[in-house]
Amino acid sequence: MTELNRRKFLTYVGTGVTALTVASTGLGALTPKVEAKGKEAANELFGFNKKVSGLNFKPIAPTSKDDVVLPQGYKYDVVAAYGDVINAKGDTFGFNNDFTLYFPINNSNTRGLLWVNHEYSSELFVHGARGADGKYTPAQIEKMLYNQGGSIIEVYRDGKEGTWKLDTSSKYARRVTGLTPFSLTGPARGSKTVNSATDVQGTFANCSGGKTLWNTVLSAEENFEYTAKDAGLNDTHYGWIIEVDPFDPNFKVRKHTALGRFNHENAAMGLTNDGRVVVYMGDDKKDACVYKFISKNKYVASRGKANSDLLEEGTLYVANMGKGTWVPLTVETVRKAATDKKNNAALEKFQTQADVVVFCHEAALLVGGTPTDRPEDVEISPFDKTVFIAHTNNDSHGNFHGHITRFIEAKSDLGSLTFDFEIFAAGGKQSGFSAPDNLTFDSYGNLWTVTDMSSSKLNQGIYTHFANNGMFVIPTMGKDAGEAYQFASAPIEAELTGPSFTPDETTLFLAVQHPGEETENLNNLTSKWPHRKGDTMPRPGVVAITGFKK
Ligand code: FEO
Ligand code: CA
Ligand code: CA
Repeated sequence: MTELNRRKFLTYVGTGVTALTVASTGLGALTPKVEAKGKEAANELFGFNKKVSGLNFKPIAPTSKDDVVLPQGYKYDVVAAYGDVINAKGDTFGFNNDFTLYFPINNSNTRGLLWVNHEYSSELFVHGARGADGKYTPAQIEKMLYNQGGSIIEVYRDGKEGTWKLDTSSKYARRVTGLTPFSLTGPARGSKTVNSATDVQGTFANCSGGKTLWNTVLSAEENFEYTAKDAGLNDTHYGWIIEVDPFDPNFKVRKHTALGRFNHENAAMGLTNDGRVVVYMGDDKKDACVYKFISKNKYVASRGKANSDLLEEGTLYVANMGKGTWVPLTVETVRKAATDKKNNAALEKFQTQADVVVFCHEAALLVGGTPTDRPEDVEISPFDKTVFIAHTNNDSHGNFHGHITRFIEAKSDLGSLTFDFEIFAAGGKQSGFSAPDNLTFDSYGNLWTVTDMSSSKLNQGIYTHFANNGMFVIPTMGKDAGEAYQFASAPIEAELTGPSFTPDETTLFLAVQHPGEETENLNNLTSKWPHRKGDTMPRPGVVAITGFKK
């Protein structure tokens, strides 16, 4: 244990951190109501009772071991890895898994569907190198498209062994891929800007995502440019937030263009105080913006999945952090900004709302959106509705370790158009983590974050201190707020992605993406994770972590 970790460990043992200790010791100025009313108010505000995860673990030290390393008392089962057959039809699990989301079957915490994103493919491990003409063959392109998108798998915890397994006899298990037909919804549907398309081919580059209030999944198309180009597809058909119902193959899979087209990391849904739907989103590239969409109409729980139409009409906003305002991205605001700046090219480009959503990043900068340091995952705190944004890093101006920003919406209303913000935690030696990426909350108000240091830079130079990528737990309130405790370490050259809990928080699903990514030759593998019998290469896979105690 390093000196820094020892200090943190002592701190946390000393305070006996538990949810209600934290909650009752005060949430700070952000949530005066909770401080005033104590425990009961806290539970009421959170919308759920505390579960079992908390900080009941002894943090691990950074390590470069080729395994998923966990604190003592925790274990992992590999539930699915690249190439595994997932159903009777013979569909297979895609490559480079990212976002996971558990959907209980009959409210079970031991059997459910798991949605899993598949973000990108690999020449070496999946479809092979380009031909002498610099192109892939149609068969290679088909493989590249099939192994991205998403998987719906059925998973269960075997009663006898307590091991999580894949149920390949599932009636739900299926794939959504770069070959699946999608509909477009919203302002860009059928517009000139997308070549008049109302239906498009497939989804790929699926990074993180989110859950809707009506129990469907949103998945974010991130770095779509490469696959679109290699496959000869129109790139305006990608870079959207897609929606899928894992339980219903007849629910037409769709892309919601009202939410903008950019390098979408994820989509975090909440409600305004007057009942409209809000979706927060990051654009994962250097010097890109943070967005939120607010629906025109209100959420009506009894409408169930018909609420999906809320994502077709509303206003998209971009954050101006200098002014603390959310600026509407409408054709009127964009054209006004272009006129004020005497920018004739922009006036030519932005003539309809379809143009604004399709070329969203450019429109956002025109109206004063603040360029930030790779905004990745966004999560809304279930405690106080502050909004956490992972700004992974931006080496072009010296932010090598990133930070987590916290937006505080005026009047704690996600519908507010003004906000303040703070830097909640900063990466670096002092905190023990670098490059925060995906985020998720537990019911104690702890923020779980995984890190995304580039695999080519791991264990070298300024990243030596952190060893492999990892997972950290950061309390968001109490005296340990902002302190990071390491919970997991990734295999060699891998990134841990897409953490999601079962509702009772006894199991944590986590994707292990790109183990052995720097391998140049199949005879000289840099990682062999998950070390399964008979495997001749590393395989991205999803693990189920258990051992959480009450
Ligand atoms: Fe796919 Fe931004 O990570
Ligand atoms: Ca990510
Ligand atoms: Ca990433």
